[in-house]
Amino acid sequence: MSTMLLVLLLISTLHLHANLILASDPDPVQDFCIPNPEFGSVKTARLSILPCKNSSTATTDDFVFSGLKSAGNFSDIGLATIPVNPTVFPGLNTLGMSFVRADLKVGGINPPHFHPRATEIAYVVQGRVYAGFVDSSNRVFARVIEQGEVMVFPRGLVHFQMNVGREPATIFGSLNSQNPGNQKIPSAVFGSGIKEELLQKAFGLSPKQIGTMRRRFDPKI
Ligand SMILES: *[C@@H]1O[C@H](CO)[C@@H](O)[C@H](O)[C@H]1NC(C)=O
Ligand SMILES: *[C@@H]1O[C@H](CO)[C@@H](O)[C@H](O)[C@H]1NC(C)=O
Repeated sequence: MSTMLLVLLLISTLHLHANLILASDPDPVQDFCIPNPEFGSVKTARLSILPCKNSSTATTDDFVFSGLKSAGNFSDIGLATIPVNPTVFPGLNTLGMSFVRADLKVGGINPPHFHPRATEIAYVVQGRVYAGFVDSSNRVFARVIEQGEVMVFPRGLVHFQMNVGREPATIFGSLNSQNPGNQKIPSAVFGSGIKEELLQKAFGLSPKQIGTMRRRFDPKI
């Protein structure tokens, strides 16, 4: 390999490395930081920080979460999710991770959505699930995954799931940000108050059809 090529390779590797660092939650500067509810949160220019309680008052229970033993409340699309972040599990604060339990009734769906700040690893605890994502060239990567199988949804890409089995399905999702964000495509488009005329032109829908979509996805209507 020529020296030139080696240098280029090194530069691109360094560049990639820098991007990786910038793309994730900041590294912790202490073992852990259990937020002290009395202090609330402190807003800085870039983020809001939860001040830690004195670490000598931390207990084992601060690092245990017991709220995932059973499914959450099902919505009318047959989906129940329990997102677990530092708000409900303070022990996660500053650790750069969060997770979610998702349960799907037979035929239930998790509609297309994405997490702007995290890649997700989804482990099928039970059931058979059609799962996939769409990349930025609109190519879909989807198939049925079964109990014990894992699928990864790259950061910021639209992904979805549907229970195609004969039993309820349970998925455990792990995300590499303590605040991954969850943007649901139908609500972002039809439930956010974008001017109706624009939606008509963008989707080739009539005012009546737009109205139907808005009533379905806009919580304010
Ligand atoms: C934390 O608690 C310990 C033991 O009570 C105490 O010695 C220490 O000064 C406290 N640290 C802070 C920053 O308050
Ligand atoms: C389910 O709904 C009940 C009643 O509204 C509520 O008390 C409970 O916290 C909800 N469970 C979850 C996991 O959101």
